[in-house]
Amino acid sequence: MWHKIDLKTKHSIMKERILVTGGTGYIGSHTVVELQNAGYDVVIIDNLSNSSADVVDNIEKVSGIRPAFEKLDCLDFEGLDAMFSKYSGIKAIIHFAASKAVGESVQKPLKYYRNNLVSLINLLELMPKHGVEGIVFSSSCTVYGQPDVLPVTESAPIKKAESPYGNTKQINEEIIRDTIASGVPINAILLRYFNPIGAHPSALLGELPNGVPQNLVPYITQTAIGIREKLSVFGDDYNTPDGSCIRDFINVVDLAKAHVVAISRILDRKQKEKVEVFNIGTGRGLSVLELIKAFETSTGVKLNYQIVGRRAGDIEKVWADPSLANNELGWKAETPIEDTLLSAWKWQLKLRERGIQ
Ligand code: UD1
Repeated sequence: MWHKIDLKTKHSIMKERILVTGGTGYIGSHTVVELQNAGYDVVIIDNLSNSSADVVDNIEKVSGIRPAFEKLDCLDFEGLDAMFSKYSGIKAIIHFAASKAVGESVQKPLKYYRNNLVSLINLLELMPKHGVEGIVFSSSCTVYGQPDVLPVTESAPIKKAESPYGNTKQINEEIIRDTIASGVPINAILLRYFNPIGAHPSALLGELPNGVPQNLVPYITQTAIGIREKLSVFGDDYNTPDGSCIRDFINVVDLAKAHVVAISRILDRKQKEKVEVFNIGTGRGLSVLELIKAFETSTGVKLNYQIVGRRAGDIEKVWADPSLANNELGWKAETPIEDTLLSAWKWQLKLRERGIQ
């Protein structure tokens, strides 16, 4: 269970002000709650292109604190500049705001390059002016492509991106490195997430896909509840024990907590380098078929699925070596997969109750 801390207690120990871009999104909203639980004063900006403003109400229900919220696009340089002035004293940024649909990025590459690259450039340009010390960037294991060695460590080579979306993650990592190498007085932590899944145990926050879900777990829960007729498993002829792809599924609340640790590492000046990279995964690979079994076992719901052909661009297998994050950040994924899948299912049930999906 999550715990509500008395409001007065929380405010009396209020720490630094943190800007969360994309803070009403899936990972962003969970991170805002964990930042608030740790005592940080959070300002959210989001253009609401893939989320809605009532997420702010649910954040408040979970944490007991209403975060400041501005509907703002990170492409709007003047708007960002004014926001930094309005909320003076922002010490660090967690930058989630980005377009993230792999397939769409192939159809609309310029939308992805503009949104994802210019947003970051705007933030980096404004940071020194407003005294912002650091940035945590939302990166992805997609930068490794199909790794030659598993589990994959942070020193594995970056492979040519399979999609414009993946390319924006790689380029953004480089933009941050080059900016800091040029002497701009900021620090950064790049978090490479594996496959975030699940929802907040309160069922007040979770993933709300736009239209037909592209990702596995939202498709599973929508099938289980009857919105979709059947889950298609993309391929059972991969070079893996059961033939389906293998991923490192990481609980979204565990992932959110990694951001809190990264922020305090930056602000407490504990970094060993001005730019640090951490894999954020469990260290355990689970196949698509194993995940389906685990969903059925933990929820007691039978899933209608069929094996179909491979999906273009899918990686065969990838899972993290998270030991750097475990040892350096003192962070570890701890939620059992059954609890995570149950949280995703409860979220789907709650959405039905709310008449949303
Ligand atoms: C994808 C992106 C990754 C991105 C992430 C976030 C690629 C190669 N990777 O991860 O960069 O950060 O989304 O959105 O595109 N699957 C099915 N049936 C489905 C849906 C998925 O079998 O209906 C399978 C996929 O083939 C894959 C696994 O489930 O093997 C996970 O898929 P998904 O949830 O889409 O994540 P990734 O493709 O790993």
